[in-house]
Amino acid sequence: VSELIDNDREWATLELIHQKAIAALDPTTREFLEGGSGSEVTLKRNMSAFDSVGFATTTMSGRGFPGLSTSLLGIDLHLPILTAPFGADKLFHSEGQKAVTRAAQAVGVASIVPEASSFSLETLAEGAPKAAVIGQFHPLGTDENFLKMLHRYEDAGYQALCLTVDCPTPGWREHNLRNGYVITQDVVGGNYPPGGEVAMQEALGQLYAHKEPVWSWEKISGLMRTTKLPWIVKGILTARDARAAINAGASVIYVSNHGGRQLDGVQATIEALPAIVAEVAGEVPVILDSGIRRGSDVVKAIALGATAVVIGRLAAYGLASGGQQGVERVFKLLEREMQIVLQLLGAGSIRELTSDAVIELKGVA
Ligand SMILES: Cc1cc2nc3c(=O)[nH]c(=O)nc-3n(C[C@H](O)[C@H](O)[C@H](O)COP(=O)(O)O)c2cc1C
Repeated sequence: VSELIDNDREWATLELIHQKAIAALDPTTREFLEGGSGSEVTLKRNMSAFDSVGFATTTMSGRGFPGLSTSLLGIDLHLPILTAPFGADKLFHSEGQKAVTRAAQAVGVASIVPEASSFSLETLAEGAPKAAVIGQFHPLGTDENFLKMLHRYEDAGYQALCLTVDCPTPGWREHNLRNGYVITQDVVGGNYPPGGEVAMQEALGQLYAHKEPVWSWEKISGLMRTTKLPWIVKGILTARDARAAINAGASVIYVSNHGGRQLDGVQATIEALPAIVAEVAGEVPVILDSGIRRGSDVVKAIALGATAVVIGRLAAYGLASGGQQGVERVFKLLEREMQIVLQLLGAGSIRELTSDAVIELKGVA
């Protein structure tokens, strides 16, 4: 990140970057980015639930400067943070996911690239050849289209795959209904050239609202047996589903409620995490998104058993505020805050963190 941004007080906090992003977007796009589904109970809870997780500090711990690096599926991560797949990326900045992937490369973290990107997965991999990239897609539509995406990710050199299982149809998003928001081919069709509209709509769950859902763990398991790439399952909120995903062959459990955009009324992910970690008990890594807004949130999720966290809106705020540099700035601020939190907590490195570092805060809110 340039000296300019580093010394500019306008970029001093993540909330300032959020405000910059909001100011840069037109009202409809702002609502699309910020909004959730239903009454937005889950959207709000994703963030407020972090307030109930407190720290149990150890003073005079004898520990030095905290280490923040980790690894996931053999991918080295400079920070325990990945970028989440968010489609329609060109709406937030002309460079969209291209800027996000390049930022991930510069910072040394991984980016989960969305199927619904404004750019093709091949363009994105070529634009950041050293970035750790994970290809996200939806188990929807025909087997043929599903396998076509899988093979394209394999051929383009993606290190892992990510299946989003919480989106058989888009959630009930009232802001879109109110403002008449329509997803257009040019912002989400990077992987589907003109003429591929049906495949794209299938992939986004838009056609399936009117048809029988036909996907199951059994079907996913059969199709995923054909790839050597490890796969992450995104959208798990219960121990039962975590077990089903492991039985189907998933290598990572990704706890997510889609940032409160799918089924409203589900738990905040930080609330759902402990039972899933207990079920999985070290068999596979667990990662988490939804509601991460600052460095201390990352530390809390890792203390409760996540290997790394994933940032959706926070990455989008960086993108909208300043393209690649804005996203890099988000990572820099998360890094600095995490270092301070860990030092104050008396923790050596994030790899050593356990649930002993957190305590439930009750009452006052
Ligand atoms: C604008 C936007 C678009 C998204 N598009 C997708 C998508 O195409 N596929 C997907 O799996 N998740 C998608 N998500 C969900 C994110 O991957 C992630 O789960 C969510 O943003 C995490 O919550 P947070 O925004 O509070 O960090 C999207 C989220 C946003 C905000």
